[in-house]
Amino acid sequence: MALTKSIHGEWSSRFAYILAATGSAVGLGNIWKFPYITGENGGGAFVIVYLACVVAIGIPIMIAESMMGRRGRQSPVNTLVTLSEEAGANKNWHFLGWMGVIAGILILSYYSVIAGWASAYVFKAIFGGFSSDATVIKATFDELMASPVQLVFWHTVFMVATMSVVMRGVKSGLERAVQLLMPTLFALLIILVGYAMTTGEAYFKGLSFLFSPDFSEIDGDAVLTAMGHAFFTLGLGMGAIMVYGSYLPSGISIAKTSLYIAGADTIVALLAGIAIFPLVFANGLEPGAGPGLIFQTLPIAFGNMTGGWLFGILFFVLLVFAALTSAISLIEPVVAWLVENKEFTRVKASIISGIATWTLGVSVALSFNVLSDFKMFDKTIFDLLDYLTANLMLPIGGFCIAIYAGWIMQKKHVREELDLPEQQFKLWEVLVCYIAPGAVFLVLLDVIGIL
Ligand code: PHE
Repeated sequence: MALTKSIHGEWSSRFAYILAATGSAVGLGNIWKFPYITGENGGGAFVIVYLACVVAIGIPIMIAESMMGRRGRQSPVNTLVTLSEEAGANKNWHFLGWMGVIAGILILSYYSVIAGWASAYVFKAIFGGFSSDATVIKATFDELMASPVQLVFWHTVFMVATMSVVMRGVKSGLERAVQLLMPTLFALLIILVGYAMTTGEAYFKGLSFLFSPDFSEIDGDAVLTAMGHAFFTLGLGMGAIMVYGSYLPSGISIAKTSLYIAGADTIVALLAGIAIFPLVFANGLEPGAGPGLIFQTLPIAFGNMTGGWLFGILFFVLLVFAALTSAISLIEPVVAWLVENKEFTRVKASIISGIATWTLGVSVALSFNVLSDFKMFDKTIFDLLDYLTANLMLPIGGFCIAIYAGWIMQKKHVREELDLPEQQFKLWEVLVCYIAPGAVFLVLLDVIGIL
């Protein structure tokens, strides 16, 4: 029999859930990663593929994943055990939960290092202000990358912050943190877009880079990156939204909330792109500069604009918080599992999983300097973890979730949870049974070289 409530607590309202899930979705993926991978993959055409993936694959899978969470009401591993019993399905499906737990830890290990960069920039913003000269700004970034001590220090600060929120649990920890931060971040992005508009011709160059597609730039790998990013940015395929769904009270519409969350996430990413690319062109920078892109562009804006000192501080503070609200959702599946199965307190569960993630993160921090020559499959540790998780584990996890919700669970249970008008249910069913898993499968086949 299905549980009626999670032992870990529940969100206090629909709005609280939307904020928390949007907090999970909106993060470094939108503001740091989306612009630089768009830059590396030629712009407009990549953006279109990414948007198509969000609509046709991401949204249906987000509905599926949160629906499974609410029905199971436990950590993803145990939710899959319960749901499989209910559906009379093979117990091995709980390995899908484990893959998610591992993906969450792997992602957080590098996510925390990048969030550490943003934290370092808060202090640079406060104490130095930013220069308006692009070469000085690039040198500042290069200096940070070259320093193992600074990178590990900031990674540590960020991990400690994350785990101390997670320790406090669903209501007082996770919920409170996002309520103020999300709206402020949004306002700040609008200010940055306003600044980008003052760059004149470069503004239009930036917009045209983002929105006029040239499909000759797109190959199988670019499509995989766009699809992987759709999973990454929405926080799908590893149990984060499943565990958040498990704290969702009955009676709240899963489909509607998913649309809001995906909509907000997409708008933030596009705003970040619109703020950043004009600066790239105005300052003769390379759109394909890689992971350092926003750290080499936005400070220029802060260095030049009136009030830039304050806006610079605010922006990086908010970026750190956006990362924090995503980070807590990356680690929540394993923490919830440790509490359920090992009967650990939340505090102990948080400390143990935090230490494991931190340790791995140290190797990521070093992969930008002392270990930069250490490569597997021609990738540094950072590149490898990013590729493995975003491009492979999340799409594979999402594929399995679509199959599970579409083919394994009993239709009457799914209908009961989603409570949608028949036509909308049918539409979702087609997407989750055929379109989403079919598309993921084809892209993966193409990348392995079978197509
Ligand atoms: N969605 C987050 C971001 O865009 C990252 C994330 C990935 C969160 C997977 C949860 C699960 O930054």
